[in-house]
Amino acid sequence: MNSIAIDGPAGAGKSSIAKALSKRLGYIYIDTGAMYRAVAFFFLENDVKDGTDSRIESLLEKLEISIKYEDGTQKVILNGEDVTGKLRLEEIGKLASKFSAIGSVREKLVALQRKLAQKENVVMDGRDIGTVVLPNAGLKIYLSASSKVRAKRRYLELLEKGHTDLDINEIEDEIIKRDEADMNREISPLKQADDAYYLDSSDMTLEEVVSKILSMVKEER
Ligand code: DC
Repeated sequence: MNSIAIDGPAGAGKSSIAKALSKRLGYIYIDTGAMYRAVAFFFLENDVKDGTDSRIESLLEKLEISIKYEDGTQKVILNGEDVTGKLRLEEIGKLASKFSAIGSVREKLVALQRKLAQKENVVMDGRDIGTVVLPNAGLKIYLSASSKVRAKRRYLELLEKGHTDLDINEIEDEIIKRDEADMNREISPLKQADDAYYLDSSDMTLEEVVSKILSMVKEER
């Protein structure tokens, strides 16, 4: 099976780009961040405060995550319930970052992600795809952009969704904090794989990034 791994910091545009790429290539898009967000949502529902909670292992045994596709869009199913619409809040993103540092959480999700990539051609995005989940991916991209640009994109995205009380500097601070946590955790921190291409999308449109990656796919073939 073919796979493309896209890693990078929060708000770099990974999911929009991975989605567009998967459509063009006829691959399945797998958003691994949504899986960590689903775990965070489940822990929040069960009142888990942090990684020291003694119930984490037993809760993980009860946690079943699967994904399905509706009109080409990934849906995350948590213990039988479609929770996709509940995962995008920044609060859930922050909690996902916190709980993603727990080894047993990562083991469970990495196993699921690898299984999915064995069955289908995939474009998978996340933080550890090129380094840990799919070390033999056919093409690895490390997608970044300046924190200012990423904050501006997030701001416009939230504005479009109808949010009004927004502070772009606060958004940038949150992004920087989350990157620091993801880059400095002990297990599978966010970093560029040795064989990944670095792409800075600060001054590029989505279409330019997609075209650039498609030309790399051709070169790799
Ligand atoms: O990409 P995202 O914002 O939906 O991810 C939410 C958090 O989940 C991110 O801050 C860190 C964690 N995550 C991870 O540790 N490994 C991944 N492969 C994907 C996400």
